[in-house]
Amino acid sequence: MPLGVAQHPSPAGLRLQQLAVKTQGKIDATKLAKYAPLIEEIDQLKRQHQAVILAHNYQTPEIYYGVADVVGDSLQLAIAAEKLDAKVIVQCGVYFMAETSKLLNPHKKVLLPDLEAGCSLAASITGKDVELLREKYPGVPVVTYVNTNADVKAASDVCCTSSNAVKIVEKIAAERGVDRVLCLPDEYLAKYVASQTKIKILSWHGHCEVHERFTALELQQYRRHHPGITILAHPECPPDVLAEADFTGSTAAMANYVGQNRPARVLMITECSMADNVAIANPGVDFIRPCNMCPHMKRITLENIRDCLRDQKFEVTVPDAIAARAKAAVVRMLEMSQ
Ligand code: 13P
Ligand code: SF4
Repeated sequence: MPLGVAQHPSPAGLRLQQLAVKTQGKIDATKLAKYAPLIEEIDQLKRQHQAVILAHNYQTPEIYYGVADVVGDSLQLAIAAEKLDAKVIVQCGVYFMAETSKLLNPHKKVLLPDLEAGCSLAASITGKDVELLREKYPGVPVVTYVNTNADVKAASDVCCTSSNAVKIVEKIAAERGVDRVLCLPDEYLAKYVASQTKIKILSWHGHCEVHERFTALELQQYRRHHPGITILAHPECPPDVLAEADFTGSTAAMANYVGQNRPARVLMITECSMADNVAIANPGVDFIRPCNMCPHMKRITLENIRDCLRDQKFEVTVPDAIAARAKAAVVRMLEMSQ
């Protein structure tokens, strides 16, 4: 190449440079070189199919920073899904999230790169269980976490996420003039809501397999080894773990906390990729990184995102018999959380 002629990087090379900048050198060069052509391919396929990628905060940095069009917690993804201008939605998250997107976009194709990406909370309860609870507690409104399958949503009055659960429970109780609410299926989220309100909360025995593994003892040990540390925890953690934390909130609330307060040293009691993504956005904040991996979230990779877009496969649909009622519970949540 003659001197003086600018060397323009290939599109994949350009993507590589952009991802390196976005992730502030936190992904090593070998991995970046492996990701770049895949990211380029995904970009082309997105344009070809008029697709958008919604990614949950627990997705790995190469997905979160490399290919996602929208990132956020469950509520933010649902709000975004309602407003999308696209033909195809690729949900980088778990099955119930793809179902929620489908409920809000019945005429769009919703793809999940791996249909086995489930959730222990969604698996803990069925629509039939909710109907039996309704018979047992007549007149008590049912608020279900979005981490449930569509048949459970269809049997509910309204959904909630970890970021609006307290608000939704209080609003529905006031609307119905009752002092008891069924908050399903996460026992620990229900306990957290109960600690924040005077409404009596009836719950179920579902747990998140990632957050239930944290212990209060573990947090106490981190405090001893890292004096001055700020501990942020997700409300799916057991109550004694939350009691040891400085702040409890959804994944988006934890990320905002770090951005706004810029604590010197942080421990996030949640899924592993969360701290990776928040650390990249907050250089200068020191992250202590014990974490538990969600095996379901980790089923999503750049490779299977590329494959699902290329082959237009792994479409998520919701049976007509339950779609309208399930959608009503999600839409009700979006209205009530405003
Ligand atoms: P949020 O992102 O809504 O806090 O939910 C966490 C979670 O576990 C999703 O699976
Ligand atoms: Fe479900 Fe827990 Fe995984 Fe979230 S982190 S998808 S609640 S198992």
